Amino acid sequence: DLYHIDNIGSSQYDSESMTLSELADSLRNCTKCCLSEGRTQVVFGSGNQHASVMFVGEAPGFHEDKQGIPFVGAAGKLLTDLLEAVGLSRSEIYIANIIKCRPPNNRNPQPNEVDTCKPFLLQQIQIIQPSLVCSLGNFSTQALLDKKIGITKIHGQVFQLPQFLLFPLYHPAAALHQANL
Ligand code: URA
Repeated sequence: DLYHIDNIGSSQYDSESMTLSELADSLRNCTKCCLSEGRTQVVFGSGNQHASVMFVGEAPGFHEDKQGIPFVGAAGKLLTDLLEAVGLSRSEIYIANIIKCRPPNNRNPQPNEVDTCKPFLLQQIQIIQPSLVCSLGNFSTQALLDKKIGITKIHGQVFQLPQFLLFPLYHPAAALHQANL
C-alpha cells in the first residue's frame, strides 16, 4: 500500500547549504536539551553520504554513546545482519537516529527532546537526499510522519512524503525480545 501524506510542508526540510561534516561539527558541543549533560558524545550518524537508502533509529544507547557510531550494540548487530541478509552493507546506506544523545539509562526520548533534535535529522535528510527512509520503531516513525500512530499498525507500509518514501519498520531491539517480529 502506498499512502500519500500531504500534511508535511516541504518548508520544514529547508536548510542552509551545509555539508554533512559541517552539520556534524556544528552539533559536536550542542546543549540545546538536557541530554547533553549525560552524554559522552553526540552520535551524529554514519555511512554513505550519497546513500539512496537511509535508516533512522531512536537514540544512542550505551555502546553508541561510547563509540560515537549508531547501532553498534546488540540491536545494531541484528540490524547489520538483517541488512546483509537483504544484500545491503552498512557502507552503502546511511544510519542516524532521531535523537543524537543518549538518554539516561536508555529511557524513552521525551517530546521536547524529539522536537529539539528533529530539525537536525531533517537537515541530514536534506543533505543526503535519500529516496527511501526506513524509520525503525515508534519514535522516528512518528516524528517523520508528524503523526502519533503505532508502529504495529503501519510497519511495512510505504508513505509518500514530499521528499522521500518513508518505510516504517519494527525497531531491531523489539525483534531481539520478540523473535516473531
Ligand atoms: N537503538 C537505536 O535506536 N539507535 C542506536 O543507535 C542504537 C540502538
